[in-house]
Amino acid sequence: MKIRLMTVRQWQKRKGAELLAVFAEEKRGRAALDERGEDFLPLFAGEDFSAKKEELLEVYPSGKEKLRPYIKRIVLVGLGKSSERKKEAVGRELFRCAGGELAAVCKKRKITCPAVLVPAFDGLCQSDFIEHIIEGIVLGSYRFDKYKTDIKEKKQQAASVQEIVLVVEKKSASLQAAAERGELAARATISARDMANEPGNGWTPQHFADFGLTLGRLEDVTCTVFGEKELKELKMGGILGVNQGSAEEPRLVIVDYCPQGYKETVLFVGKGLTFDSGGISLKPGSGMMEMKYDMCGGAAAISAMIAIIAEKPAVRVVCLVPSTDNMPGGSALKPGDVITHYGGITSEIENTDAEGRLILADALAYGVEQYKPDAVIDLATLTGAVIIGLGHHYVGTLSNDDKLCNAVMAAAAKAGEKQWRLPLDELYAKQIKSQVADIKNTGGRPAGTITAAEYLHKFVGKTPWVHLDIAGTAWNYTEKSYIPKGPSGVGVRTLIEFIRAKKKKQG
Ligand code: BES
Ligand code: MN
Ligand code: ZN
Repeated sequence: MKIRLMTVRQWQKRKGAELLAVFAEEKRGRAALDERGEDFLPLFAGEDFSAKKEELLEVYPSGKEKLRPYIKRIVLVGLGKSSERKKEAVGRELFRCAGGELAAVCKKRKITCPAVLVPAFDGLCQSDFIEHIIEGIVLGSYRFDKYKTDIKEKKQQAASVQEIVLVVEKKSASLQAAAERGELAARATISARDMANEPGNGWTPQHFADFGLTLGRLEDVTCTVFGEKELKELKMGGILGVNQGSAEEPRLVIVDYCPQGYKETVLFVGKGLTFDSGGISLKPGSGMMEMKYDMCGGAAAISAMIAIIAEKPAVRVVCLVPSTDNMPGGSALKPGDVITHYGGITSEIENTDAEGRLILADALAYGVEQYKPDAVIDLATLTGAVIIGLGHHYVGTLSNDDKLCNAVMAAAAKAGEKQWRLPLDELYAKQIKSQVADIKNTGGRPAGTITAAEYLHKFVGKTPWVHLDIAGTAWNYTEKSYIPKGPSGVGVRTLIEFIRAKKKKQG
């Protein structure tokens, strides 16, 4: 996607614009344009259209108007009352949603190059506006039609947004940087959506490895991939155990962004379960297909690295993706089996469908020991229970460190990805005590999300850590104009914002 900043004069030289988006505010129940908008719609009276947020109106200049030679249509977009966007996070989300609405118009009208008249309302931060309107348009324009061979569908693809023009009063480096931030965050999110949209036979552990190795060619980045042989040497009984019934080899993919002179290390760990059948504790058939999305945590963590590597922060960021599918078979893990995790903790398998924690435990234990991180964030479609608790609107957040947790939640708020914190407590940890091993892999029905987190807790110890249970939000996410029906890419932008809050690399 190309993004260009242009002045009105530069843009007007390009004849035949398909669409110009003009923004309006709601003032005393009526739509109000700013001066820039009035230049394009001098006769606009605002009847019926009161510029409520996400309210849209398409206007077609007639042949008599001076606009006609170069603008085919104007889309008026409501931003609501200015008082409503006072809070920074609310404003950002408003712009993203407006971008998503615009993308929908572009889809409907087959527009490939929309232009956006950047508004100059009192109290509106233009760089915030630009960053998030771009994010919204790019995310809203997303589609996945790789497997559609139908010609009609392909033609539609050709008509998707290719370029966005931001019509500004004056070009500046800071506005340009804002546009780039928005585009990069959206691109990383789209990468995660693309991975998740791939079926189980189109995205295997080796695909995560190939993706990581590609990132590994960039400056300050190395990628290490452990296969079955290395995992055996390291005694990663969790990843190997889950993989036992599979025809596909497991991988642990490590992408290490390591800038010179770094003083802080952040570890990301993402569940890369490429298909979760449940294993011997087989899931019911209906809806099982959705378990191709069980790698959304891994997709989010590794895709966030795209933006982080490009933005060159001064912190080391190491991303681990343990990856396998979870299949039944003659050699598969059985209920009652005991495995030994990396580092030696033994675990009794009560239910082979509680596999996510098994692969994460090895990765967490290894990552904490090897990289001695100052902060760990893991993302996983870990429990159905988080859907019962929070539905499809909030990510479930659990942490052993208030300060880190608050920082992650602040980043999530900025990214428009709502989170709700659930408690950790030794009382819940008691539920995963085993008769025969150190721990067992389920804690019964009560508080399933918390007992799953307590399982992971055993492997990070006192290292500041935040666990994000994205089972309810990784797909079927809350309805928004810039979130499509399938995978949402949730978590990617939270991670990016979390790292953005830290210092940039010098020079
Ligand atoms: N991947 C699932 C969790 C899940 C369920 C994600 C529904 C998204 C939608 C996970 O591996 C799982 O099966 N968890 C079990 C754990 C139970 C056996 C303790 C669950 O939540 O039912
Ligand atoms: Mn499972
Ligand atoms: Zn799973």
